[in-house]
Amino acid sequence: MGKNLDMEKLASLCKRRGFIFQSSEIYGGINGFWDYGPLGAELKRNVRNAWWTNVVQRRENVVGIDASIIMHPRVWEASGHLGGFADPMVDCRACKKRYKADGFCEEQGLKLIRTDGGFQLPAGVKCQACGSEELTEPRAFNLMFKTFVGPVQDDSAVAYLRPETAQGIFADYANVLATSRQKVPFGIAQVGKAFRNEINPKNYTFRSREFEQMELEFFVKPGTDKEWHDYWVAERMAWYESIGLPAASLGQDVYAKEDLAHYASACVDITYRFPFGVQELEGIAARGCFDLSRHQEFSGKSMEYFDQETNEKYIPHVVEPSAGVDRVALALLCEAYAEEWVQKGGEPGAASQTLPAEPGKMPPDGFEARAVMRFHPSMAPVKVAVFPLVKNKPELVARAREIFTALQQRWNCAWDMTGAIGRRYRRQDEIGTPLAVTVDFDTLENGTVTLRDRDTMLQERVPVAELAVTLDTKLA
Ligand code: GAP
Repeated sequence: MGKNLDMEKLASLCKRRGFIFQSSEIYGGINGFWDYGPLGAELKRNVRNAWWTNVVQRRENVVGIDASIIMHPRVWEASGHLGGFADPMVDCRACKKRYKADGFCEEQGLKLIRTDGGFQLPAGVKCQACGSEELTEPRAFNLMFKTFVGPVQDDSAVAYLRPETAQGIFADYANVLATSRQKVPFGIAQVGKAFRNEINPKNYTFRSREFEQMELEFFVKPGTDKEWHDYWVAERMAWYESIGLPAASLGQDVYAKEDLAHYASACVDITYRFPFGVQELEGIAARGCFDLSRHQEFSGKSMEYFDQETNEKYIPHVVEPSAGVDRVALALLCEAYAEEWVQKGGEPGAASQTLPAEPGKMPPDGFEARAVMRFHPSMAPVKVAVFPLVKNKPELVARAREIFTALQQRWNCAWDMTGAIGRRYRRQDEIGTPLAVTVDFDTLENGTVTLRDRDTMLQERVPVAELAVTLDTKLA
């Protein structure tokens, strides 16, 4: 459904069915933090696994690491996060509301002014809450969460929760190079939590204060940056399509030269057409040798690479595709959600007529409404549901249970024996389960089950002996 989706509806389904909850909801929640329920946890696991399979497992020249979240504070001096990782913000002196200065100006059709030393508000901006023009000048606000390491809480014990996973990779670069027998060009990948004290968390999980990143630092020979950058943009676009985000909903935001950091030679954001606008899913930057050079400077340890083929020594340049697990999961949820009117009581095996639901209207006679999450099978939290046709025939339930247990060894399965079969199908449609297996009296007679497809709603008889092979094909 993508761009036409009502986010309230999606959030309500996500809460009702256990995809996403507000963090600490029983205490009134905490802004910018989210919990993933049983289905959300599976969805995120599918995103992470698909990324890891594509970026690490299937590439000989990429290896993965799992670095600590809290690192030596010098890392953040070297990376520039301690000095520069700040959003300018502005406070209303009258009502005390705080805004991110750039968005605050843009929403009023104005542009935040860059000055030599920082930022300045354009004339005429007002507090959007109370209308006051009594505003502070924009002030930098560091986005890193601070904490203390050890029992003494003084300046010498200050540490930070990492605001990106990338620096763990740069800090381990020399260790990985020494232990993995990789040669430039090669990559180091990592998936993990990152934390930013965002001034204005918004759009559901889109901008959170705790989130998860999937980052690759791909080290290349200086001068080959552009070809590797182009390569990774194409690879990453193809990956998004492979997990069910159609090309029509994806886009690329190519940075103009003047918008690039001074050390970067290119940057492309991969975007998705969310219901709240076209927004970034992933940034792919060609960052030159900035990061490794800075760590060499701050740590005093050499980051040089000796190229045995050419006898050259250099600090590798890096191309960095950096994606957010939560943003990809949110895009998948937005894309999957659909409401339809479907013909009631169609014959098994025959296609039911479906009409797109018209917002605010009742379905026509002979039709009923269904909400369906059309996840790509690889992303669906539950792959197969197994139902005994009735729950009061022990023989039938036992056979269904056997089939369920066998399928569970391979796939995430759901078991449901409550209510009419039609209602059970609807419950699975709503969470995006691609296939449902119904065990009935014929199963006991001839060893076949009904296999029902979420999208077409077609039902076919499949021998139990062929079930695993059939599911393998349909879930690929
Ligand atoms: N190492 C580069 C880096 O961190 P970034 O553009 O700041 O670059 C990369 O972040 C990705 O991390 C974004 O494209 C987005 O998917 C995700 N991300 C960043 N901030 C986020 C936030 N506050 N909430 C959710 N995801 C976020």
